[in-house]
Amino acid sequence: MALFTIDEVRKTFTNGEVKEEILKGINLSLREGEITALVGASGSGKSTLLTIAAGLQPASDGQVIFEGENMAAMGSEQVRKIRASKFGFVFQFAHLVPFLTVEEQLMLMLDVSESKLKKHEQKKEVDKILRLVGMGHRKNAYPSSLSGGEKQRVAIARAIIHKPKVLFADEPTASLDSKRSKDVMSLIRDLTKTLNITTLMVTHDEEMLGFADHIIKMSDGQVLQGVGIIVEN
Ligand SMILES: Nc1ncnc2c1ncn2[C@@H]1O[C@H](COP(=O)(O)OP(=O)(O)O)[C@@H](O)[C@H]1O
Ligand SMILES: [Mg+2]
Repeated sequence: MALFTIDEVRKTFTNGEVKEEILKGINLSLREGEITALVGASGSGKSTLLTIAAGLQPASDGQVIFEGENMAAMGSEQVRKIRASKFGFVFQFAHLVPFLTVEEQLMLMLDVSESKLKKHEQKKEVDKILRLVGMGHRKNAYPSSLSGGEKQRVAIARAIIHKPKVLFADEPTASLDSKRSKDVMSLIRDLTKTLNITTLMVTHDEEMLGFADHIIKMSDGQVLQGVGIIVEN
């Protein structure tokens, strides 16, 4: 069953007098426990689509249905709550807080997501997730002492510490070399499968597509049909 359905989503930006339609009626479904990769030329609308699906900006038209409810019709506070408790985010750069240790970054995330766990339970959870991403030995380290690949592992741990249903990743490997990119992608794939997360990932890198269950190709604000599988309403 589709956990997430995007139905005829459109996005229009107005630059001065000029109206530009950046998304031209997108339909797609994401299924539980699967990775969907969004590919296409720069400027084709991938990030715009991801941010609309994630409730970071509203669509101009269409529906974004998550767990049976249309997020496009919700108020911003309701969308914020879903984002904080049910979604996780990974971007090209890890964006770690420089003056917090690895452990503290994750504890902060639990606070933001309004975790009901007690402090000592939170610490246990942080330990568990750090071990899962292979960073258990670096929990007292500051970001400046981590490599690019290690930072991205921490960013991934931070994105999943509150057990989100959906992981949104926009070019998560774009700042890494080929070996580290593959490591990070196999980590995302393992987590998607073992924690039954639904992942939507934008990527430029053809090498990463082997990690995806579905590939959706976008061109000029539209989904190209006949590439990979998808659209299952
Ligand atoms: N806030 C905005 N205002 C105006 N134009 C925007 C805005 N956000 C994105 N765009 C335009 O939408 C198009 C698609 O952008 P984006 O979704 O970032 O593409 P991609 O991620 O595929 O490179 C680009 O032409 C971009 O300039
Ligand atoms: Mg982009």
